[in-house]
Amino acid sequence: MFRIVKKEKLNPVVYRMEVEAPRIAASAHPGQFLIVRTEEKGERVPLTISDYDPLKGTVTIVTQEIGASTEDICSFEEGQAFADVVGPLGMPSDFVDMEEDELAGQRYVFIAGGVGTAPVYPQVKWLHSRGVAVDVIIGAKTSELLIYREEMAGYCDNLYVCTDDGSEGFHGMVTGMLENLVLEQGKRYTRAVAIGPMVMMKFASLTARRLGLPIVVSLNTLMVDGTGMCGACRVTVGGKVRFACVEGPEFDGYEVDFDEAMRRQGMYRQEEKTAEPHVCRIDLRSGTAQE
Ligand code: NAD
Ligand code: FES
Repeated sequence: MFRIVKKEKLNPVVYRMEVEAPRIAASAHPGQFLIVRTEEKGERVPLTISDYDPLKGTVTIVTQEIGASTEDICSFEEGQAFADVVGPLGMPSDFVDMEEDELAGQRYVFIAGGVGTAPVYPQVKWLHSRGVAVDVIIGAKTSELLIYREEMAGYCDNLYVCTDDGSEGFHGMVTGMLENLVLEQGKRYTRAVAIGPMVMMKFASLTARRLGLPIVVSLNTLMVDGTGMCGACRVTVGGKVRFACVEGPEFDGYEVDFDEAMRRQGMYRQEEKTAEPHVCRIDLRSGTAQE
């Protein structure tokens, strides 16, 4: 069982949970995700790994209450346990495989939107611990919805906070902040990484292209099995169908068909809001449907 050792409320709708999962913690890398089921026949919910500690044997997940299944996850308290946590899934971020001299020449800017700020954190930590220059832009609708300000500040060279309503930091969206840094403040970056709502990643990619900056995005597509078998997570990248769960979740932002990805992501939004907790009828060990 996967016991919750710590639970914190980060803002009115977002919770952080540290969960005992020693095998996942021992092999996780930045950029990967896991799938949580609260009960044996519950819905499989993909969540990006927001931190991992191989010594303590824990992984950290950050969940926003947006529908029945995420509300179910957020209702769990310290000491309770999830029935199932599977991972680490997906490919690690590309910098994990870079040679030391290639890494040393990089200057990264991360563009983090809303709850997508949490999965940026292990990437920033990883790069910072290897001496790579990292700036981070965090955006949220209002000051009270900002998360990970203090945590991130300890691991980056410069932190830029923005809010849509101007209640804290730069008044505007993360894309406006990126343009400001490059065009007005003369900042030079070699790579950008954007994680957040799909529409933010679309416009971050368009902005990065205008600025001549290579960009990677992390796609939070629909997912079912998370192992490349069901096709639920398919996206078009560079004109080819790719499975985000096994070939991603990170892809070249210039190449992603965001409009198609947003249409597919929105297919079940109404059902998710109104749904009763889902009962999975597939026995994942035998692969057979059950009554
Ligand atoms: P949000 O809608 O409040 O947006 C956060 C920030 O993104 C905004 O403050 C703004 O700066 C920027 N943004 C939004 N729309 C933009 C646009 N059109 N152009 C430029 N910038 C824009 O975010 P939220 O309510 O926290 O939503 C969280 C979303 O993040 C959910 O849809 C969730 O599925 C997604 N998410 C993605 C990942 C991932 O791995 N990609 C991980 C966790 C959550
Ligand atoms: Fe089923 Fe990716 S989630 S193939």
